[in-house]
Amino acid sequence: MSQNVSSRISGFYKRCLEDRLRAIEALGLLDEDALAHLASGGGLPTAVADRMCENVIATHALPLGLALNFRVNQRDVLVPMAVEEPSVIAAASNAARMVRLSGGFSGEADPPIMTAQVQLDDVPDAEEAAARLTEARESLLAAGDAAIPRMVARGGGCRDLEVRVLSAELGVLVVHLYVEVGDAMGANLVDTVAEAVAPLVQRIAGGTLGLRILSNLTVRRLVRVTATVGDDALGGADVASGIARASRFAELDPYRAATHNKGFMNGLDAAAVALGQDFRAIEAGAHAYASMSGRYRPLSTWERVPGGLVGRAELPLAVGTVGGSTEVHAGVRAALQLVGAKSARELAVVLASVGLASNLAALRALASEGIQRGHMRLHERKRALAAGPASGSGAAGGEAAAPPSGEGKRFASERGEGHRAAQAEGGT
Ligand code: MEV
Repeated sequence: MSQNVSSRISGFYKRCLEDRLRAIEALGLLDEDALAHLASGGGLPTAVADRMCENVIATHALPLGLALNFRVNQRDVLVPMAVEEPSVIAAASNAARMVRLSGGFSGEADPPIMTAQVQLDDVPDAEEAAARLTEARESLLAAGDAAIPRMVARGGGCRDLEVRVLSAELGVLVVHLYVEVGDAMGANLVDTVAEAVAPLVQRIAGGTLGLRILSNLTVRRLVRVTATVGDDALGGADVASGIARASRFAELDPYRAATHNKGFMNGLDAAAVALGQDFRAIEAGAHAYASMSGRYRPLSTWERVPGGLVGRAELPLAVGTVGGSTEVHAGVRAALQLVGAKSARELAVVLASVGLASNLAALRALASEGIQRGHMRLHERKRALAAGPASGSGAAGGEAAAPPSGEGKRFASERGEGHRAAQAEGGT
């Protein structure tokens, strides 16, 4: 997004769906195809779906919303999110609004280095074989590069090699090749490298060749984000202290850390889905990283500082702005235009910021009134939708469906509540 476009759009939640789209159109972020795609209600033609995976019988839709108020590394960012859970988008928007009062999120991502693994079993004298493989580093990197010439021409390629003896007794060792993959997520490239170098690895080390595949624990592709938020924005010093205590709880207890991390991934996954990212890979990497110390830990922490809190998150994040469904899915292309990230690294920082915002929103609610009040108001909208037939104007206007007969008055007031909850949480 250009520097003079704001991610704060006043009263966005109150507008009908067409007006929201008009407001987005006015920002000038979307090309004609993307606008037409969104105006048509989004979705995926079955002919395209049929080319994306196998045995297609239909498509499966999710609501696509926009999280507002995000400012990341001094740039305002609109964050598309695809998610079925009520309150995720409103909560992230609300937390982003609080954080932007202190300047927004800042962060950085490592260069896009993925890990290829080549497994060997039954290697005679595994330690000695590991030393030989390390000595052959340059020829192994060259063999990897030879398999991905176009990536090498674009400035990527094999950067490093590591040999890990997993069991000297059983002769099990694994070779890691670290591959720079540009703005792609990189899974295919890395798998290509793993398969290409494997015969040479085996010739050097002996033993029986095993798997040749990427690792989703992309420890050389980490992203780190931080945010400051003031006591006033949070609703007082007691709430801030409550959030810091909740964070410490997650650091001390893996049972709590799992739920803490779920709240973090609520926002990150929703944005990742909208942006066509491999969210299974992201999830696998995040939770493996959370366990790397030997105990499952929170991906983010909140620390009390004078007048507020500092939040920090660090996790592996393999995302791409090219390749995969970015090539074929019109909704993904529209989402990428909205978010406006110029590189995979920039996208990773935005996604981690969304995670930190979701986490903050959840902890703030839990440390104050609890999440059920706001959640249940929004769930009620969904329940009413399930009970009643969708009205034409509802579909067109983006409002909830007609209430079940006899429940009109109650439904109408709950719908108002839902909007108030969204306003309170979304702060748009
Ligand atoms: C619900 O989707 C997510 C939370 O449980 C996260 C948390 O407890 O931190 C509210």
